[in-house]
Amino acid sequence: MNIALIGSGGREHVLCQKICESKLSKNILCIPGNAGTAKIAKNIDIDFLNFKLLLKTIKNHKIDLVIVGPEEPLVKGMVDFLNKHKVKVFGPNKYAAKLEGSKAFMKSICKRYKIPTAKFKTCKNKKDVIKFLKKTQFPLVVKADGLAAGKGVTICKTKKEILNVSNEIFKGKFKTSKKLVLEEFLKGEEASYFLIVDKKSYKFFGSAQDHKRVGEREKGPNTGGMGAYSPAPIINKNLEKKIINKIVKPTLLALKNKKKPYTGFLYVGLMIKNNEPYLIEYNVRMGDPECQVILPRLNTDLVKIFNATINNKLNKIKINWKRLKCMTIVLCSKGYPGKIKKNKLIKNIDKLKLMKNSFIFHAGTKFINNKLVSNGGRVLNITSTGSMYKKIRTNIFKIIKTINWKHGFYRKDIGWRVIKKTYANN
Ligand code: AMP
Ligand code: GLY
Repeated sequence: MNIALIGSGGREHVLCQKICESKLSKNILCIPGNAGTAKIAKNIDIDFLNFKLLLKTIKNHKIDLVIVGPEEPLVKGMVDFLNKHKVKVFGPNKYAAKLEGSKAFMKSICKRYKIPTAKFKTCKNKKDVIKFLKKTQFPLVVKADGLAAGKGVTICKTKKEILNVSNEIFKGKFKTSKKLVLEEFLKGEEASYFLIVDKKSYKFFGSAQDHKRVGEREKGPNTGGMGAYSPAPIINKNLEKKIINKIVKPTLLALKNKKKPYTGFLYVGLMIKNNEPYLIEYNVRMGDPECQVILPRLNTDLVKIFNATINNKLNKIKINWKRLKCMTIVLCSKGYPGKIKKNKLIKNIDKLKLMKNSFIFHAGTKFINNKLVSNGGRVLNITSTGSMYKKIRTNIFKIIKTINWKHGFYRKDIGWRVIKKTYANN
């Protein structure tokens, strides 16, 4: 099969690698891809949000299947557009993608189907905000309704802060958000649970925990993710049952009832408190960097899984996982998530002799005159598998030291929860 993969992050590099390893794949296009995907596939640098141009490219390259990595094209209706033009594509339709594209939409489903989540109020103006403030305690979380590249959520400790942040959103700080959601602050431990879904059934697709804050000890602003590990030991069998019954099943039913069934990857972002799951957010795609720690553990042909999903035959296949743990640490450009400098040379990668259990997944990288340079905030995902998180992390540190990239930084405490806690066999 000829496959096109949309996106350019670490998530797309590991997806590309797994597609490449499949017996079923022939030519692979990455649109636009990065320096990592350039080595194993053909990168095509076009604006994938220009759907007509995308369709032309897909037809020219006789693509049999399109895999969509990031959320923006899904929320903007890429799947509906390509399906209309008889192109097979993996990912949710535009309506279902509102689970991520609109916090107010997601919360309205929670309310209707009694899904456990933070108490909330969708506000269209300052008056709504003030009304909710009278009934709640601090801290409070303010969320812009639409996509905001991870920058739309603020945890506020005072009324003044809430009014300021709300005002900015109403004034149009995030173009796609004319409204906002105010919600109670949930205490607990965060974890992410993944599924792959077709119109008839769904299958577990891994669990992970990531570190969203830029600084060690979870300090500083939110980022796309500074590192992750899989599996997440906090997700036990009993909790998993609750996640499925209280959260996943009613959500999938809600979309079926609207005649817009969900298909694709579903990322369930959770807060766990006293062994009870609360839904924080849905993402309609794999996580980044969670994908980089889940896919190295996959023991079934990924293209076979995509095919089964597209044909609504997920219930006919078995998805196997390696009994391994996996961790990734993100090497970022100095300044991230604020201002960064691009085009900084990354010299030492070719000197590395990686063992079979270690991988470097590229994110913001590209080649200029055959030289590898940085091209974004998150640059490389240094990833390793093993049986103990502590040893895996030590191994990753060694690789990062060898790369010795002076323009970068990384968190040295990724996995602190699983390394400190006495979970069995960690
Ligand atoms: P979201 O974009 O909704 O996932 O929010 C980004 C991050 O903000 C989450 O991963 C949490 O760390 C934090 N967060 C969001 N909502 C809440 C909440 N209600 N209580 C506590 N933390 C939250
Ligand atoms: N790592 C968080 C996300 O992919 O949304």
